Amino acid sequence: MIKIKTVSNQPVGKSLTGGISLIYLDNAATSWPKPEVVYQAADQCLREYGANPGRGGYRLSLQAGRMILETRELLATLFNIPDSSRIIFTGNVTESLNLAIKGWLRPGDHLVMTSMEHNAVARPVFGLQELGVNHTVVQCSPEGRLAVRDLEKSLRPNTRLICINHASNVTGTIQPLEEIGDLAARKGIPLLVDCAQTAGVLPIDVKKCQISLLAFTGHKGLFGPPGTGGLYIAEGINLRPLKEGGTGSKSELLSQPEDLPERFESGTPNTSGLAGLGAGVKFILDQGIDTIRQHEQELARQLLDGLQRLEGVIIYGPKDITEQTAVISLNIEGWDAGELSFLLDHLFDIATRAGLHCAPLAHQTLGTLETGTLRLSPGYFNTAEEINVLLEALHSIVKNR
Ligand code: ALA
Repeated sequence: MIKIKTVSNQPVGKSLTGGISLIYLDNAATSWPKPEVVYQAADQCLREYGANPGRGGYRLSLQAGRMILETRELLATLFNIPDSSRIIFTGNVTESLNLAIKGWLRPGDHLVMTSMEHNAVARPVFGLQELGVNHTVVQCSPEGRLAVRDLEKSLRPNTRLICINHASNVTGTIQPLEEIGDLAARKGIPLLVDCAQTAGVLPIDVKKCQISLLAFTGHKGLFGPPGTGGLYIAEGINLRPLKEGGTGSKSELLSQPEDLPERFESGTPNTSGLAGLGAGVKFILDQGIDTIRQHEQELARQLLDGLQRLEGVIIYGPKDITEQTAVISLNIEGWDAGELSFLLDHLFDIATRAGLHCAPLAHQTLGTLETGTLRLSPGYFNTAEEINVLLEALHSIVKNR
């Protein structure tokens, strides 16, 4: 049994966590805690106007419909989308990516993706091979960087989609979105961006980056509840819906309506989730995305500096806070990443994630497919003091082996 010296683990400004005292460093999976307004908005919706939107003319139903419209408008502001009806809501980014990929590509088409994609992209893309949709995986550098010239070289006459992860969920590596958007526009190929790790974390402008399809999730950087996500679909991109059913509109038709957003939103929506998501996006717009980014960069810098002093540490990714989000993957020689994560949780109340993070292609790129990594992902509500506690805890674990 390893003997560990405990370090001071004071709850730091954690009023949002309902009195739970732990250090949460898994924001790349789900952000937690949420801003207080998110809890309030979701609760208020369920209690005060949890009716079915778009299906009734009574006030409660209209109020629910208005809230969903406001959430769409807030997202349109955040991503600089001129027409909010082109944002459709889904259950999460995985559903959005599936809709974009399977709803757009046809037998005989070719797609280009990178070697840093998550399984939310890789699995649908590899699955489509059976239907005659081929793909190329562009190899990124061992830090996860994509060279746009390699992307360009991989394009074929039948390439109908470029799919890019804005930032990696394993190393935080940020891809050059504007440059990729320029290439896609020049070649006339739609660009699908997976912004699971960057929505609410980095500025995203669909116009400037010439994005045709933007897949986002609500429960990470946007501070919404789980079960929320969406897809922006640019004018001229006609996707086949993955699900069909009641939309509350054009009920006389036995076929799916053509109008957006209803075309892709059959079934009762997650009203309380979308109320929370709207509050989360409003919180981001009020704080300013630059303020959020700056705080997360400071925490990432502190983490990188402190980790580099740890004996036997191997840090993956750019190790440069201007080139990555606050997502840091590492291993410590002689230690299993899962064991480290277990000890941090059980001895120090520090929540981290270990393993392959659902991104085997990215681990192949980093050379960590066999071992996985320990991932630390601070968020806006973490503090410098908490990062110090984590660093002390890791030092203590390694020293007391
Ligand atoms: N994709 C999420 C993560 O990276 C769940 O942890």
